[in-house]
Amino acid sequence: MARRILITAALPYANGPLHIGHPRSTYLPADIYARYCRLRGYDSVFVCATDEHGTPIEVKAQQEGKLPEEFVKTYRKRHLEDFNALGIAFDNFYYTHSDESARLAVEFFKAAQEKGHVFKKTVEQTFCEKCGRFLPDRFVKGECPFCGTPGQYGDACEKCGKAYHSGQLNNPACTICRSKPVRREVEHYFFKLSAFKDFLKKYFAETKGLPQDVLNYLKTWLEDLQDWDITRDGPYFGVKIPGEENKFFYVWWDAPIGYISSTVNWAQREGKSWEAYWKNKEAELVHFIGKDIVYHHFLFWPAMLSDAGCQLPARIPTRGYLNVEAEKMSKSRGIFILLKEFLEKYEPDFLRYHLTAITPNSVSDGNFAWKEFQTKVNSELIDCYANFVFRVLSFINSKFDSTIPEPAGFSERDTEFKRLTEALAGEVEIDYEAMEFKAALEKTMAFAKECNRYFNDRAPWKLVKETGKTSEARTVLYLSAKAILALAAASEPILPFTAKKILAQLGIAKAKWGDSSHLRPGQKIAVPEILYEKIEDEQIDDELAKITPKEKPA
Ligand code: 2FM
Ligand code: ZN
Repeated sequence: MARRILITAALPYANGPLHIGHPRSTYLPADIYARYCRLRGYDSVFVCATDEHGTPIEVKAQQEGKLPEEFVKTYRKRHLEDFNALGIAFDNFYYTHSDESARLAVEFFKAAQEKGHVFKKTVEQTFCEKCGRFLPDRFVKGECPFCGTPGQYGDACEKCGKAYHSGQLNNPACTICRSKPVRREVEHYFFKLSAFKDFLKKYFAETKGLPQDVLNYLKTWLEDLQDWDITRDGPYFGVKIPGEENKFFYVWWDAPIGYISSTVNWAQREGKSWEAYWKNKEAELVHFIGKDIVYHHFLFWPAMLSDAGCQLPARIPTRGYLNVEAEKMSKSRGIFILLKEFLEKYEPDFLRYHLTAITPNSVSDGNFAWKEFQTKVNSELIDCYANFVFRVLSFINSKFDSTIPEPAGFSERDTEFKRLTEALAGEVEIDYEAMEFKAALEKTMAFAKECNRYFNDRAPWKLVKETGKTSEARTVLYLSAKAILALAAASEPILPFTAKKILAQLGIAKAKWGDSSHLRPGQKIAVPEILYEKIEDEQIDDELAKITPKEKPA
């Protein structure tokens, strides 16, 4: 049976546009892995959805004078457009404000209750007397009760990453009317995370696919597991708790359940079973996330899954933030690159290439610099990779009547090049399996360099001029065409648009992993086209001019 893998990418909130940090941390690595799995013929499904509940969305909808139900639809559409433009090929993109999600959120809650992991507790919540409402999460700001950082919302601290409830904030203020709220007692449901200490320790120790750098910093959190407040009093945009007048699930309860509801929706459409992925020990669950949501995915989620009788995540690849020009993204200073705007100006594979090149499989942050982007794309992707493809195919077009030539004997150099070509898939496979996509790209580009070296050394244009050497030239062009196919297949997960263009030029419908037998002598190729135009200096100057320099100290 083929390996069965369920791949998810963290659900983007439906409350604002995506920037280029989003694909770097989550969507691009997830898509690369999903594409690789498809190429290998694994039984894989890649799902995502918009994360639509909770107060950030309510606040934004309110600002725009819309109902949250209406407001989220804009981003449901917009996110999918952006993902399509970048070639993020989900098998299903759904939304959490759905019937499937609501049903599953209740089922998970009941399962946790049955296991004795839900209890009620009276908590102090911030209540705004002026607005006449409780102020959960984004409706209140104050100082973090753990590290004291000011300006933190009511649910979690952006600085230290800890979760808490709004009543714990010091010096709180209502974000709607800015007045000082009062504290009111109210009953909430809690999830007994503290009961999962040994369970989580065992899970971390036994699950070899979890990233060690994340596990290291989880160690301290494990020693101090706080029970988790999972309800909010209305008004709240979310899933209502059965049997309660005015209580809803906190958004982070139903958010990860959105992974399952998207699978359910996919399975219904495709006539498949969602349980075959979520409740089957033979299947692997793989969640791609950014490092800001480690707490939820490594602690809450495995505990919830366990209570609901689902299997646990096999891998949770976690990546860091992206700075721009060595600074934190900031809208006001123009250091903020929207994905949509980027893709209106540059090829999607340029971004996929560059982000992959600067993103190791770790939580370390990365830096996007315009000049480096231009240099890498121009000198590596275009000069080295695309140019080799064009030179070879143009040569076949002009000198061999657009037909893949029959090889005629192999010199030592030819044999060595043939060996390298045939070894490429096996080499990068190790990296794709390990989710070391940067390494897979580097190996592919090292091979592209080797291709150029081979082509220049063997110089077929000289060979065809020398009588009696045309047959040698045939061998060179035959092997070079094979190398192009190997390059396209090996890089398809990272550069799908490029691979598609190359395959079309070779007249091949689909790449096969580690197998180029479907490219044979006598096959016709299309008239080659230049794959990409280079990025001009002026374009980059324009981009840099948009960034406002930091104010100089007086
Ligand atoms: O942090 C975020 O952007 C969340 N919307 C991620 C949710 S991931 C999942 F668990 F749903
Ligand atoms: Zn208020």
